[in-house]
Amino acid sequence: MDVSVNSCISSPVEDSQRPILHVEARVKCAGDGIIVRTDLIRDEVTEWLLNNFIVLSIGQMISSFEGLSEPHAQALEFILVTECSRGNLESGAYQLQQVQLDVQVYQLRTRSEQQSSQKSHILEDSTVAGDNVAIATARVLALPSIDLEGLWETLDYDQPVQSTLLSAISRMVSFSARKLDKWTINWNRLILIWGPPGSGKTSLCRGLAQKLAIRLGKDYPQSKLFEINTYSLGSKYFGESSKLVNGMFENIETLLQEEEDTFICVFMDEIETLVARRDRALSSNEPFDAIRAVDAVLTGLDKLKEHSNVIIVCTSNLITALDQAFLDRVDIKQYIPQLSSRPTYNIYKDCLEELSQNGIIEGVSFDVVQVTPDDPQTALQYVEQAAEHLILPTFDEVLLHYGSFPDAIPTLLANAVFESEGLSGRTVRRLPALSLVLYSNGTRCDIRTAIEALRMGIASEWQAKTEAMMTMAGEHISGTTQANGQ
Ligand SMILES: Nc1ncnc2c1ncn2[C@@H]1O[C@H](COP(=O)(O)OP(=O)(O)OP(=O)(O)O)[C@@H](O)[C@H]1O
Ligand SMILES: [Mg+2]
Repeated sequence: MDVSVNSCISSPVEDSQRPILHVEARVKCAGDGIIVRTDLIRDEVTEWLLNNFIVLSIGQMISSFEGLSEPHAQALEFILVTECSRGNLESGAYQLQQVQLDVQVYQLRTRSEQQSSQKSHILEDSTVAGDNVAIATARVLALPSIDLEGLWETLDYDQPVQSTLLSAISRMVSFSARKLDKWTINWNRLILIWGPPGSGKTSLCRGLAQKLAIRLGKDYPQSKLFEINTYSLGSKYFGESSKLVNGMFENIETLLQEEEDTFICVFMDEIETLVARRDRALSSNEPFDAIRAVDAVLTGLDKLKEHSNVIIVCTSNLITALDQAFLDRVDIKQYIPQLSSRPTYNIYKDCLEELSQNGIIEGVSFDVVQVTPDDPQTALQYVEQAAEHLILPTFDEVLLHYGSFPDAIPTLLANAVFESEGLSGRTVRRLPALSLVLYSNGTRCDIRTAIEALRMGIASEWQAKTEAMMTMAGEHISGTTQANGQ
């Protein structure tokens, strides 16, 4: 019998203190709706990794599975080392003896499965003004979903926001599954992601739901994302909003009761549309309907917390506009700041390389080398080499090696990054392709032209922002003058 390296040398106490190395193993989509027994594959993959590898590195992808028994080797698409909780080695390479291995096996849910589950969760209300229309909708996605694949990986933050949230929330759900006494442990599993527009909040929440489904796959073989359309709950008909909110929460409760073994992530984007401060509504002439809708959300949240298999994730641009009682129920408040230089560079790099992969930007790679390679005393030289696709250096490499070459492509891109400081993630992601369309000609160009176009796009974005601010300031002054009767 094979005995794992870990179990030979460690006691259980030591085991629980080791960093956890998370490894995802994706099973191929069968296409015919067949869902495989991931638990069997998980045990086998864990043993296979322990027997065949001494070290695994973050980001390492394994796609040949020699020695893994059939039909499991056939079923696997790839194995990917994703992250290490409590591990902080700069190299990102971990000896398997030093870590606990956490293998998560998953299969992406196809679109046809999602459509069938979605249909059953569209709330229809035929009572409103006699119109038989669907007015309050929720999109229900079976997770992990093919539609959300790759989203998490495109997100980039200076701080380890993603791993911190993923680890904290998955542990929160695992703790809750132990049926802690509800009078003693008082949490709502309510998470608020807030920050400026375009900083990636909505994307982060969707990606988080996908990753939680994968990470919690051991405990919950099925997972669903219940994405509420918060705007549709604010009815224009007096007295209807709170009814719609109640109906929505009842719908979620029914789902939770029917599917006790399913992990449900409820997602409410732009929550300020539903839970604006009641004290402000009271002091203004807003209808009581809005206040009742907030009450209905709070009551709904209090009911949901009884179920250990649900979390509620919300986003907001305006934390100060949110009702105090709602904020008080939030367990984790996570601020997402505007992009800094490193993530901005990574997004530009991603976009430009993607454009090159598709033949729109010519392939080229860059380096800084000694003029005479054998003599370290000789001067440094910047080189560009034709390549199949564009390969840009990392941000650290640009700062370290390219600074003394002002005309080098990586330096020009870094300049574009510094010029972008203060632009939102949404704008930064849009600009490389958009600028090419606006400021270059032809179907294919070189990287120098693409970066020139990008810098023109950035300049035009700032000009538009300045003009908008001047217009707003002008309107403010004329409004104040009119109010003073001048
Ligand atoms: N930190 C980031 N890393 C990578 N991409 C980002 C980041 N921030 C924003 N983006 C990109 O910007 C776009 C908009 O993101 P998203 O809609 O999630 O932002 P948001 O914070 O929800 O915006 P809003 O407040 O306007 O709703 C997406 O394409 C996303 O990929
Ligand atoms: Mg958003």
